[in-house]
Amino acid sequence: MYTVPKLKSYTAAALDKAVEKLRAALDEEAKAIRTEAEWKTFRDRWMARKSGVLTQINDLWLKAAPKDAKRDVGQRVNEIKAKVTEVVEERQVKGIGLAAADSLEFGDSVTAQVIPHLDITLPGIRRPLGAEHPVIKTMHEIVSVFRNLGYSVEEGPVIETDYYNFEALNFPPNHPARDTQDTLFIARQESKPPRERLLLRTHTSPVQIRTMEKMKPPIRIVIPGVVHRNDPPDASHSPMFHQIEGLAVDTNITFCDLKGTLDHAMKALFGSSVKTSFRPSFFPFTEPSAEMLVSCFICGGSGKRGSEPCRPCKQTGWIEILGCGMVDPNVYGFVDYDPKKVSGFAFGMGADRIAILKYGVDDIQLFFNGDVRFLEQFG
Ligand code: PHE
Repeated sequence: MYTVPKLKSYTAAALDKAVEKLRAALDEEAKAIRTEAEWKTFRDRWMARKSGVLTQINDLWLKAAPKDAKRDVGQRVNEIKAKVTEVVEERQVKGIGLAAADSLEFGDSVTAQVIPHLDITLPGIRRPLGAEHPVIKTMHEIVSVFRNLGYSVEEGPVIETDYYNFEALNFPPNHPARDTQDTLFIARQESKPPRERLLLRTHTSPVQIRTMEKMKPPIRIVIPGVVHRNDPPDASHSPMFHQIEGLAVDTNITFCDLKGTLDHAMKALFGSSVKTSFRPSFFPFTEPSAEMLVSCFICGGSGKRGSEPCRPCKQTGWIEILGCGMVDPNVYGFVDYDPKKVSGFAFGMGADRIAILKYGVDDIQLFFNGDVRFLEQFG
């Protein structure tokens, strides 16, 4: 192993010889480096401030030199410093890809090392394509079923007033029916009259009112949108979810129209073999009101999957899919329609729930966690 000698003579020839020996040692040690740890040892041996080779030549060669040789020695010592620094840096870069670097000559530039790695026949870097979110996809499908029936699309604000979300939908002022919707109210509204207080809409039904305020019958609309309720998140609940509302108002619209329209829509969505069933329900803004069920398209209505019980329909063979009813005449009073002249029906369904059933997803939270591994399955 090379050690820095004391110089006995400071003639140019003696200095050249000493430098030559040092350079040969530097090259030899540099070539032997194979690992990062070896490179670190090499760097410290040559460059460590305390007793590295550079410090030693400074002490043993430069400081010890007689006055008239100092200039000459100093110049060579500076050259050696530059060379050592260069070699140390170079071997570090080469340390990353030693297999290829070995075939290169010492002193080849970094750019030259990259070129052997460049294979222009390799495929390029693919940018992942975005995909429609499964809930939005489901909403588009539902909307398009109704567009094909001549319905148009209306939307409304997510932050609503108590008036549109409740009062104009025939919820009596201050009536506790508001509680059944687990409403999230905007804070510090106490100074406002109750009907002007803001809340996150609990359903898309307020857009029925907003639309009837600006349009006269005939009306046939669907209203897709996001709604909020004070429900803690679990596998089947989310404080934020999606609804699609429908409203048809015209002369002579009957419950038969409601049944026929919804039966057609369910067959278009879930397949022509599904059946629909209605059972009585209550909503303040429809009278009569109903809940519609579809025969379970997972088990075909049998309640069983082989010998296993069918989970989506809880073995009943039927799945609750939406709320509906004939528009309550009181509602027309809020929008200046004449209940003696017009009639209509409305319905509202949860898009997330339908997406869950369509895609066999077992946890609604998966829709909102933003995990690409889940979402990319729908691409
Ligand atoms: N808005 C009701 C809900 O969210 C659903 C509904 C809409 C019922 C239209 C009847 C008519 O529960």
